[in-house]
Amino acid sequence: MLKTLLSRLPFLTACTSLVLVGALAGACDSGDGDSGDSDGSETGELPEVDCAASNVPAFGELAAISSCTSCHSSELSGGDRAGAPVGVDYDTYENAKANAEQGAVEVNAGRMPIGSSLGESDKEDFYLWALCGTPQ
Ligand code: HEC
Repeated sequence: MLKTLLSRLPFLTACTSLVLVGALAGACDSGDGDSGDSDGSETGELPEVDCAASNVPAFGELAAISSCTSCHSSELSGGDRAGAPVGVDYDTYENAKANAEQGAVEVNAGRMPIGSSLGESDKEDFYLWALCGTPQ
């Protein structure tokens, strides 16, 4: 019974043996980022940024924010939010800061923004801001 099951799952079997051997254990664990999962965001990873070597933009300089607030704004309620979860907002510094890391995960995963896309430098600025101290 077990043998049949294993032979039907060659990938799983290979991974299990690798883990047992102790080599390349990480190759079989997709949920383990190397930048430290601080908020249990198992559905996406934080982008890599080099805070020390970069100019971290201030909140007011983020071009990306305007691509979020058509849905994620504390001024919007009900259907005007287009399904954006209540409380996940980016219209003020305070609420953007509270949702910064999660936003970086969503953008990095390509799930946000819905309905438009961000240029590379706008994304990079958002990541730097979100992950390097969220300066005001
Ligand atoms: C057209 C509307 C729209 C725009 C624009 C938009 N979002 Fe969203 N956002 C949604 C909806 C709908 C959801 C909930 C469904 C989902 O998670 O896919 C959501 C969910 C989220 C979540 C929560 C995900 C979770 O797992 O709880 C975050 C964080 C987020 N968006 C960030 C952003 C950021 C950052 C931007 C701008 C770069 C953005 N969104 C632009 C509609 C939008």
